[in-house]
Amino acid sequence: MRIVMVGSGYVGLVSGACFADFGHEVVCVDKAADKIEALRNGVIPIFEPGLDQLVESNVKAGRLTFSTELAGPVSEADVVFIAVGTPSRRGDGHADLGYVHAAAAEIAASIKGFTVVVTKSTVPVGTGDEVERIIRETNPDADVAVVSNPEFLREGAAIEDFKRPDRIVVGLSDERARPVMTEVYRPLYLNQSPLLFTSRRTSELIKYAANAFLAMKITFINEVADLCEKVGADVQDVSRGIGLDGRIGAKFLHAGPGYGGSCFPKDTLALAKTAQDHDSPVRLIETTIAINDSRKRAMGRKVIAAVGGDVRGKKVAVFGLTFKPNTDDMRDSPAIAIVQALKDAGAIVSGYDPEGMNNARQMMEIDFATSPYEAARDAHVAVLVTEWNAFRALDLDRLKSLMAAPVLVDLRNVYRAHEVEAHGFAYHSIGKG
Ligand code: UDX
Repeated sequence: MRIVMVGSGYVGLVSGACFADFGHEVVCVDKAADKIEALRNGVIPIFEPGLDQLVESNVKAGRLTFSTELAGPVSEADVVFIAVGTPSRRGDGHADLGYVHAAAAEIAASIKGFTVVVTKSTVPVGTGDEVERIIRETNPDADVAVVSNPEFLREGAAIEDFKRPDRIVVGLSDERARPVMTEVYRPLYLNQSPLLFTSRRTSELIKYAANAFLAMKITFINEVADLCEKVGADVQDVSRGIGLDGRIGAKFLHAGPGYGGSCFPKDTLALAKTAQDHDSPVRLIETTIAINDSRKRAMGRKVIAAVGGDVRGKKVAVFGLTFKPNTDDMRDSPAIAIVQALKDAGAIVSGYDPEGMNNARQMMEIDFATSPYEAARDAHVAVLVTEWNAFRALDLDRLKSLMAAPVLVDLRNVYRAHEVEAHGFAYHSIGKG
């Protein structure tokens, strides 16, 4: 199959490299000339474990190429994926579909022969209809089937998620697209990954419903964690106790500082807005959004309480700035709100992150340290915000000797209280009364 990915951001690049690895001929297109130039030189613009090798080997094999120009590759393609960004629209939280619509118009102008156009970007229900309308209006002769095929990739595990998905969802109305999409995913299909065909609108909604449900699950356990602290229970045991119930499932029950990232915050908001527009509000999700928003700043107050209620002039060390480990992504990271709350209270913040420092520099003004130990020097409290492996086995004696006061706030429950306390620390975790 000849495949074109329009948009070589996170989703476009990972999907493009994986499709090439399946044996398809893939062209990743992007308007950003510097990004394409970098990719041609083997420089990957994002941090994603395994992606550099995957790109390199498929470029070498001649199956993966990069281009700033869309027309040529699209004219020869069997399948064109739209994988451009859908940021939250400024002001109202709706998904901004400007890039998707522009891509649809550009693709339409270059299509030759029967082509399947697939929306991979996360888009509100009905966007497929709009993409089809734009294509038919721009080029009435275009012979297309417009399909929805949402991605469920987790940053940091994206290649694994792509190659071993729980399911592949394909929404279509033109039956000619079914064998084409089956061929695109043939290796996974042969591996017996469920390939679920639905209507286009259903497929679009599945993506939002999945992310909203997971965001709600996290928020549920976060509230239970708060209750655990009040009643003297242990949230990790509660998670285990309910997670073993097959109807609930053990995943996404880790209490923490609140969810962040490029998907959950944006997609929950977009779903809530779509639902309101259709006079069918999703109140559980609206509440999830509100709880998660306020939780991040509340974590700042938790740190302040751990040092006795006043951080003015005191140094706080922050371990981990990205929204989760194994990514350099800072979007909606809880660290942003936590750092702001600490700075508002007069703290001097020093932070360290294994991969996120460059992005963090654009988003916060703090002292950036070269290691967790440097961040901790003379600090009155250290806060573990992101559970990078590098923070799982800290030399606690060394840490204590560097700090002005041995206080550790562990917002990811990485450590055990008795171990940390044995090293002379005051230890605060999440959801342990
Ligand atoms: C998510 C979805 O998992 C993925 O299917 C979708 O395509 C994109 O959005 P991602 O944002 O990369 O992926 O990260 P994920 O691992 O889902 O974590 C999201 C946030 O939830 C992180 O901030 C993480 O720390 C938090 N989280 C996750 C918890 O606080 N507790 C958990 O148990 C799980």
